[in-house]
Amino acid sequence: MNPLRSVGAKLSLALAAIVAGALAIVYLIVVPSLERNLVDAKRTQLRRALPGVVRQLPNSPYLWQDFAQTAAESTNARVVLLDTLYEGPPVTLTTSADSNLVESTDVERDPIAIKAATRLERVEGTTVRHGQRYAEVAAPVARDGPVLLLSAPLRDSLRSVHLVQRRLLLAGLGALAVAAGLGLLGSLVFTRRIRRLERAADRIAGGEFGEPVHDASEDELGQLAGAFDRMRLRLARLEHARREFIANASHELRTPIFSLSGFLELLTDEELDEATRREFLLTMREQIERLTRLATDLLDLSRLDAGRIHVERQSLDLGTLAEALVEEFSPAARARGHELSAVVSVDAAAAADEERVRQIGGILLENALVHTPPGTTVRVRARTQNSRAELTVEDDGPGIAPELTERVFERFSRGDGSIASGSGLGLAIARELAELMDGSVELTSRLGRTAFTLSLPSSTAEPAFSRENAEVLV
Ligand SMILES: Nc1ncnc2c1ncn2[C@@H]1O[C@H](COP(=O)(O)OP(=O)(O)OP(=O)(O)O)[C@@H](O)[C@H]1O
Ligand SMILES: [Mg+2]
Repeated sequence: MNPLRSVGAKLSLALAAIVAGALAIVYLIVVPSLERNLVDAKRTQLRRALPGVVRQLPNSPYLWQDFAQTAAESTNARVVLLDTLYEGPPVTLTTSADSNLVESTDVERDPIAIKAATRLERVEGTTVRHGQRYAEVAAPVARDGPVLLLSAPLRDSLRSVHLVQRRLLLAGLGALAVAAGLGLLGSLVFTRRIRRLERAADRIAGGEFGEPVHDASEDELGQLAGAFDRMRLRLARLEHARREFIANASHELRTPIFSLSGFLELLTDEELDEATRREFLLTMREQIERLTRLATDLLDLSRLDAGRIHVERQSLDLGTLAEALVEEFSPAARARGHELSAVVSVDAAAAADEERVRQIGGILLENALVHTPPGTTVRVRARTQNSRAELTVEDDGPGIAPELTERVFERFSRGDGSIASGSGLGLAIARELAELMDGSVELTSRLGRTAFTLSLPSSTAEPAFSRENAEVLV
């Protein structure tokens, strides 16, 4: 990875940017105001000194030069007297006395003095001469008199400003280096933790679920590690369930295939009498039927897992469906010596998929007929309860053992010594199909009453047709 794109580099840069920003703000607040204050103080000093100098100015111009020098010492400023050579515009000035003996012509074009001569009033400000800044105050002494200019260099005053500037710059550079270093150091700790998480994610992606993902800290990375660990546990459970499903499914498929191959071998024995051969063929047909059913159930489950089962939402009268189911299963019920009936309320309209509800009803009804002893009464009820449409299949058989009631809806879960042993997939399919239609399948079981209730959203539309309460006995 490009080192500049690493978290460490980004964190260091961010910290450095924050420090640089903070220092820039401090600089902009401190330096200009300090400079302004110092310049103002100098100007005030000159302004205050000006009236005294004007008052003491001798009348005779011959004395001005000496006066300028004395005044310069007392005011701590250069004192210049300028005569107006030409009244302008623009006004032209000429030096008539200057405390600075070296060069006097440089102030003749002084903008502050020219302004004072033009406006005939006191003017103050700062100006730059020979690359140096000066605070200046200028005023005409009298109407026709010279312009008095007090000019003091700002170099000494601004020295402290430059000192502050330098210190700030140095402090800034130091703070930047410290910030970048700290950012890099802090990021090293985080990078190590992130790398640990990355390795854990790679392990999980590679199917290793054994090692827990752990991070003792409670910050966001700690929470991310917690989420990773929850994902690891869930994936481990799913993987376990997947393996178990495949093992169960292949075992379920192997049993009938093994039995079929045994019978085939026996059938090749030519000494078999006709009656035994018929019996074998009958058993083989049963095994093939079992295999076909198992294949259909497994296909249903895999479609459910893949989310490929589409359910319609249509208004469906559960009463009509209950009666149809009773009619369909009545021959099987009669053959096993069961009494089968439907108890139907006036309107039990559900918003559901007819084919899937019929499939669930069939699973429940078949269980009630297959897993109960002969002579058991089985009822199919349809009603609306708490604005849910319900289809209940109940029997007065021996019930389901309490330790099994929790598990009956799990795949491949079946009761020990079931009267007729299936694959244990029926109820799992029923519940998953019901959930697909925003419904549920619940079990209430006690000795003498076992009831499986399919609860579905009730349809707001009118039921297909309305009918009086009726009990149909078969
Ligand atoms: N009405 C019932 N009375 C007693 N036991 C029941 C009843 N319904 C279900 N069971 C028990 O619940 C178990 C699970 O039922 P499920 O329909 O899921 O599987 P199965 O009937 O054994 O096999 P499959 O339906 O796949 O052929 C059954 O094996 C049986 O022990
Ligand atoms: Mg079943």
